[in-house]
Amino acid sequence: MRILVVGGGGREHAIVKKIVESKEVEQVFALPGNGGIANEATCVDIKATDVEKIVEFALENKIDYAIIAPDDPLVLGVVDALEDKGIKCFGPSKRAAIIEGSKAFSKNLMKKYEIPTAGYEVFTDKEEAIEYLEKAPIPTVIKADGLALGKGVVIAFTRQEAIDAVKSMMEDKVFGASGDTIVVEEYLEGPEISVLAFTDGKTMVPMVSSMDHKRIGDDDTGLNTGGMGTIAPNPYYTKELAEYCMNKIFLPTMFAMNAEDRTFKGCLYFGLMITTAGPKVIEYNCRFGDPETQVVLPLLDTDLLEVMQAVTDERLSEIDVKFKDECACCVIMASGGYPSKYETGHEITMTDCEDELIYIAGAKKQGDKLLTSGGRVLGAVGVADTLEGAIDKAYAVTKKINFKDAYCRSDIGKKVLNV
Ligand code: AMP
Ligand code: GLY
Repeated sequence: MRILVVGGGGREHAIVKKIVESKEVEQVFALPGNGGIANEATCVDIKATDVEKIVEFALENKIDYAIIAPDDPLVLGVVDALEDKGIKCFGPSKRAAIIEGSKAFSKNLMKKYEIPTAGYEVFTDKEEAIEYLEKAPIPTVIKADGLALGKGVVIAFTRQEAIDAVKSMMEDKVFGASGDTIVVEEYLEGPEISVLAFTDGKTMVPMVSSMDHKRIGDDDTGLNTGGMGTIAPNPYYTKELAEYCMNKIFLPTMFAMNAEDRTFKGCLYFGLMITTAGPKVIEYNCRFGDPETQVVLPLLDTDLLEVMQAVTDERLSEIDVKFKDECACCVIMASGGYPSKYETGHEITMTDCEDELIYIAGAKKQGDKLLTSGGRVLGAVGVADTLEGAIDKAYAVTKKINFKDAYCRSDIGKKVLNV
């Protein structure tokens, strides 16, 4: 089969590496891919958001199956556009991708179908939002309705911070139209768990659970990032919790989307917070998480392409999706300065890394050199029988990799070692 993967980060590298293991695969193309993906796939310089060019490429290159990894092309409707031309896809339709594309939609969905989540109000008028915040309990959480490159959430610890957040979203339009509508949400506390699940609208198959580390600094300090590291499984995710989430969150979400005539097919991401009042949904994503995918897919024991095709053809119930009984840890190595200003173009050297699991996120090839080209440069992954072993292995891999001003957190996974 001729496969197309849309996207070009560490998550896409993890997907491509898994896909090429499938015996069905003849050739993989990545749009736009990156300097690491280029080792396994043919990378073509077409933006992941250029729906028209993606469709044109898929037709010209006789693509049999397309995997759409990032949120924005999904929300833009690339799956609908490809399927219109008869190309089968992994990923939700535009109507279903709204579960991530609009926070107001997803909050209203959860309210209507009694899926546990933080209390909230939706505002389209700045003055009304500010008036509400004059009296709302603090801390509170302000969220831009639409996609905002993972930056649209402000946790406000003072009333002034809350009001400033509303002004920057609704008045200064820092997220463009994504902030025309905002959600003001009850502040919740507790450990966070990410669960990615395959679903075809009939069956829901959760993957191994994971935990992201979103802040730039050790002990969860400093600015929010796209994710500085992950571990899987998440020690907080007990069997009882998994059963509760399946019955009260995962299946009800699948049925709710069906009832709204927005059947979701693809990978549905549940961002959960385990509060004293039980697990609540913090966010839905309409796709694989990044960098969760970098620890989940190495543990997958079933042919990924086979699972994906079963989702597309609505026969997921026929597949036995298996995960290894092991642990994984991914440590992100970033450019110094990220998530603020950082330099790019530095050469990456890897010593004795042939057998290591390294997913490239922000790097490009120049001749036979690999140069940094983004904030998050790569993920070093360790897989072992224990979480401690996986963490040690991932950090051992980072020691073999060098580039100027490389930065990684030193505590990925460590705070949960005793859970
Ligand atoms: P998101 O960009 O939606 O992934 O949110 C970023 C982070 O903000 C989440 O991972 C949580 O740590 C935090 N967050 C989001 N909503 C809430 C909430 N209602 N209460 C507390 N923290 C939240
Ligand atoms: N790791 C969080 C996300 O993919 O949105």
